This record gives sequence, structure tokens and C-alpha cells, in this order.
Amino acid sequence: MANRTDNSTRCSTSKKPNDGLMLILATFTGIAIGFLLGVSFPTLSLTKMNFPSSIVPSVNTVYIEEEKPERSSKKVLPPQELNNSSGAAFHKIWVPSNPRGAEMLPPRIVAAESDFYLRRLWGLPKDDLPAVKPKYLVAFTVAYGQRKNIDACIKKFSDNFTIVLFHYDGRTSEYDEFEWSKRAIHVSVPKQTKWWYAKRFLHPDIIAPYEYIFIWDEDLGVENFDAEEYIKLVKKHGLEISQPAVESRKSITWKITKRIPGIEVHKEVEEKPGRCNDPHKPPCAGFIEIMAPVFSRDSWRCVWHMLQNDLVHGWGLDFALRKCVEPAYEKIGVVDSQWIIHQKIPSLTDQGTVQAGKSAFQGVRERCKLEWTMFQKRMSRSEQKYLKEIASASSNST
Ligand SMILES: *[C@@H]1O[C@H](CO)[C@@H](O)[C@H](O)[C@H]1NC(C)=O
Ligand SMILES: *[C@@H]1O[C@H](CO)[C@@H](O)[C@H](O)[C@H]1NC(C)=O
Ligand SMILES: *[C@@H]1O[C@H](CO)[C@@H](O)[C@H](O)[C@H]1NC(C)=O
Repeated sequence: MANRTDNSTRCSTSKKPNDGLMLILATFTGIAIGFLLGVSFPTLSLTKMNFPSSIVPSVNTVYIEEEKPERSSKKVLPPQELNNSSGAAFHKIWVPSNPRGAEMLPPRIVAAESDFYLRRLWGLPKDDLPAVKPKYLVAFTVAYGQRKNIDACIKKFSDNFTIVLFHYDGRTSEYDEFEWSKRAIHVSVPKQTKWWYAKRFLHPDIIAPYEYIFIWDEDLGVENFDAEEYIKLVKKHGLEISQPAVESRKSITWKITKRIPGIEVHKEVEEKPGRCNDPHKPPCAGFIEIMAPVFSRDSWRCVWHMLQNDLVHGWGLDFALRKCVEPAYEKIGVVDSQWIIHQKIPSLTDQGTVQAGKSAFQGVRERCKLEWTMFQKRMSRSEQKYLKEIASASSNST
């Protein structure tokens, strides 16, 4: 496979390996899962709220809930349709259509999905949220050194976006200097990658209300980008998986990501000879890179399931995205008229560790390549196995 150029929160090739020697290193073993869900909304601690206990019950009885639960999209089976094959005989309530493990609950109480909306500690729950709730989500994986760029990026995303910051350097409270920080969700786990975070904190059921999900690196220049305009174009052109086109001072690895001036969107390109066996397949079509992807809700549900818990750099993922949309060459594309500049500032690679005579950079880079191979193998084995099983099942039945 051809070389890939760098990408700060993934792996970087633009740095010479010896540069990595200069880096300051902490050991991976010391990774404190200092997990700081710093929702910096009200800094009230519940333990400090000493209500006289007599108030509490009266508060409870004053408010009689009239609202319907916000989400009860699950089909509710009438009792006569509930059969006893899976426990109905032993339980007063047994609803097979509930999520697995929740069958004993009456369906209307089941809240199978969630959101990142911040709520207040007082007042009526129904008045917590603004009339227009954010319907898009943007997640950046960041280090404090890039805060100015992050600030510039976030200003390109309107109030219709929920902002999530994944802090891989453990610094979170410093962001309070930015006004938007108060409404952002801060998640801090040192030395983890964008895809590690995405797998753990962006489960499709947790971010269910968001129509589009941006999962971006921290080193993107956004002078020529506006998120609302971007979404209009993505909708107009039916893109389920997309990225803004890229301008870069350095060379661009995959031609499809390069901006074509004067048009709104492109979905395919001609690559160097030999790179594409099929013009409808990556890297000529059905392809974007993983530094600034944007997913529709449905495509993210599929892509999330494809993320492997142990493969954290995301290498090879871009080539497999097409498996989540059909036909990929029409639903995956690059938006030219809202575009970004890739500044290529490697940073997460600086967070590796010197090991067995290898620089930190080298170690991270080798891991990236290894993961790519592992991912490809898993995918092809799993496909082959499945197709074989299907074939033998159908030959048995005939
Ligand atoms: C249970 O009931 C559902 C709904 O009527 C039906 O589709 C299903 O086949 C039944 N299962 C068994 C084991 O009877
Ligand atoms: C369902 O319940 C009936 C009556 O209790 C019983 O005869 C039957 O065997 C049960 N069926 C299953 C699949 O458990
Ligand atoms: C946010 O979304 C609403 C509803 O779609 C739209 O009317 C509004 O213009 C959007 N806000 C911005 C800043 O674009």
C-alpha cells in the first residue's frame, strides 16, 4: 500500500524518526484512567445541597408528570402477542421487544437511548432544554497546545451543535477561558486516540438525537469552512459519509480528498495508475480519510460497530467505510465548497514512549501499520467465514 501522510491524532509520517527522540515521554503503564467527565455546567455538588428532608417529599408530590417519555420508539407488543418462549411464564412482565436484559420492565419506562444535553439541578425537567435542541455533534480530540486552533474551529460550529472535547493530555479546566467551554462536554483520558474515545463515548444509542456527527482532528484550518453550510450540502447531495475537501501545503496522500475549486461536491477521482482496480472503489471512490469525517446517524451506527476495541489508530478504517453504505460511490463524498486546510501538526505521536531502542515516534508509527494489517485481516477473514457459512447453509437446505 502507498504511504500515508501524517495526521496528528493518528500517526505521523512527516516527522523524521529521529525527531521522536527529542520528545518527552511518559510511560504507558502510568496511564491513569483519570477519567474526568468534566461537564463544566454548574459546579454544584449535590452533597452540598442540604435540603431539610421535609422538603423533599413535598417537592416530589407537587409535580405530577404529564409528559410522555421523550423516546419510546420501540414497538410495544400487546399482551396476547407475548409468548412464553423466553420467560413470560416466570415474570409478571416480560417484553421480548425491550432491549436485551430489560425484558422485565414495562416498555414505556425503558429509555434505551440518551444524549449529551446538559440539564439543570433545579426546576422542572421539561424546562431544562432550549426549544431547539442541538441536532448535530462535533467531537475534537485535543491537546492544550492547540487550543487557539480549537477555538477557531469551534466558532465555525453554530449553537445547533453539541461540542465534545476529548482531552488526550489531561488538561481540561484551562479551557474555561473560552465562552463555549461551559456548554461543551469534556472527557479527559491521557494518551488515547480519537477512535479509542469514539468507541467508548460515542455509542450510537448514547448520541441518538444527533443527525450528523463530526469526529475531527485538532490541526485543521477552518477559515473556509462553515458547518451549517456544510450540512446543507451534505443533505443536498445525499452524502452519508463525507469530509470537507483539503488544501495542504504538503503533499496530499489520496487525491480524492483534494479540493476541486468551483464545484460543490465530488465523489470520485482518477488516481495514479495502478491504485484503483475498480473506479467505484477506494481510493478512487467510496472513500474519505479519517482526519475529518462526518457521519450521518445511520452510517455512524454501522461504523461504530466496525471499530475494534484494541485497534486505536483507525488505520485501514477509511478503506472499509464503504461497507456501511450502499452504494458507497454515491453516498460517500468530499465537499469542495466548504473546505479545510490540513496543517499537519503531529502531536499525539509525541505521546508515545521510548521502548527497546525505538523512538516514541517510531513505536507509534509501527503500531499504526500493524493495526492496518490486523484490521484488514480481520475484515477479510470475517467476510469469508460468513459467506462460507451462508453458502453451506443454503446448500444444506436444498
Ligand atoms: C412469539 O410471538 C411472536 C409474536 O406473535 C411470534 O412472532 C413468535 O414466532 C413467537 N415465538 C414463539 C416461540 O412462539
Ligand atoms: C407456553 O406456556 C404453555 C402454558 O403454560 C405451555 O404449555 C407451553 O409449553 C409453553 N410454551 C413454551 C414454548 O414454553
Ligand atoms: C439552527 O437550526 C435551525 C433549525 O434548522 C435553523 O433555523 C437555524 O438557522 C440554525 N442556526 C444557525 C446558526 O444556522
